[in-house]
Amino acid sequence: MSYKFLEPFKLANGVEIKNRVVFPPTTLRSSFATGVVTDDEVNYYKMRAGGPGLVIVEMAYVSMAGKTYVGQIGADVDEKIPGLKKIADAIKNRGSVPVLQLSFGGRIAQTAAVLHDDVIGPSDVPGHQPGMATPRPMTDAEIRQSIADFGEATRRAIAAGFAGVELHGANMYAMQQFFSEHANQRTDEWGGDLTARMQYGLAVLDAVVAARTAYADDQFIIGYRQSPEEPTTPGIRFDQSLAMAQEIIKRPISYFHISLKDAFQTPFMNKEDQEPLYAKYKAILGNIPLIVAGLLRTPEQVEALVQAGVDGAAIGRELIVDPNWVQKVTNQDEKGIRYAISTSDFDMLGIPEPLRFWLLTRFKKGLVVSTDEQFDPQVPLAYYRG
Ligand SMILES: Cc1cc2nc3c(=O)[nH]c(=O)nc-3n(C[C@H](O)[C@H](O)[C@H](O)COP(=O)(O)O)c2cc1C
Repeated sequence: MSYKFLEPFKLANGVEIKNRVVFPPTTLRSSFATGVVTDDEVNYYKMRAGGPGLVIVEMAYVSMAGKTYVGQIGADVDEKIPGLKKIADAIKNRGSVPVLQLSFGGRIAQTAAVLHDDVIGPSDVPGHQPGMATPRPMTDAEIRQSIADFGEATRRAIAAGFAGVELHGANMYAMQQFFSEHANQRTDEWGGDLTARMQYGLAVLDAVVAARTAYADDQFIIGYRQSPEEPTTPGIRFDQSLAMAQEIIKRPISYFHISLKDAFQTPFMNKEDQEPLYAKYKAILGNIPLIVAGLLRTPEQVEALVQAGVDGAAIGRELIVDPNWVQKVTNQDEKGIRYAISTSDFDMLGIPEPLRFWLLTRFKKGLVVSTDEQFDPQVPLAYYRG
């Protein structure tokens, strides 16, 4: 069987990616408390590189103020560069292109992750999950500092040997919060109408482009990730996201990435509209490649998405469950693909303890767990939630 998704494609800056399978960012929360990379993390990426053309490493915080989770990787100070380099090298050595996702947590940060429990965000609107803190609205100076920090973190990603960075404008993190009429109730230049709410994300992108100009060249990849809709009213709707995408692509980005629950989904906040979201993005992106994530598991699903015109298919949990998914497809061993995970597989699959917990709780929907073995966390559950 010859699949189009195994063929190479080019990003908008001309960088060739050897196939259309992308490993999207998956936060392991397995760094040292200081945000320094651990061997568990290096091993996890080494195991999953080689097959996918592009490997996007989990979100790294750009400053202590932007940290979201205990155990998150940091790109906030130069001392983190050697550790980040270990991950970039592990991925390159196995023949995949490594990109580092950069993020600022904002209102959804764990209080335990930030200094002095000082959770900050665009406005004092609590995060979307029970128990999340009510953030302190950021000052203008803090906003500008966070934007500059994305530029500095890009410089560190370049120094660490990453081929690019992806900006985390999705999944409720700060870049999305500033864009959301729900989370952003500011009356200064960072809030208000749609254009004003775009300013933060665009300013971050501009800072990252400036860092690329200063420290690398246009072969350095810049990706932008977005979540097209929010479930709240008011909240982000896909037409707003498309309007922002149109502003984003006026800047020199290499690819656009959308984070969906199901890669083929139509707008969930507008049930009458039956056009898949990927088609709406393809219609406006021109020569900017589109990567789509959301419950892709089988070669047939991935091929259908790519045949429909999507440039990159991001396979998250399935590549956690089977790190050799691409190799098995390439070697005509599709029957050998593992679609279910058992708790006794965790060690063999290089899945660190904090990720085990997340997979069996927040990310369990859509994951096939083949044993009913009780998961026995080694630390109190509150550690992960707090
Ligand atoms: C354990 C885990 C951690 C994740 N961490 C991130 C992250 O750091 N940044 C991000 O943009 N998305 C993150 N995601 C979302 C994935 O990138 C992806 O969009 C999502 O898992 C849907 O794809 P899938 O159904 O193929 O798993 C994470 C997902 C999982 C399962």
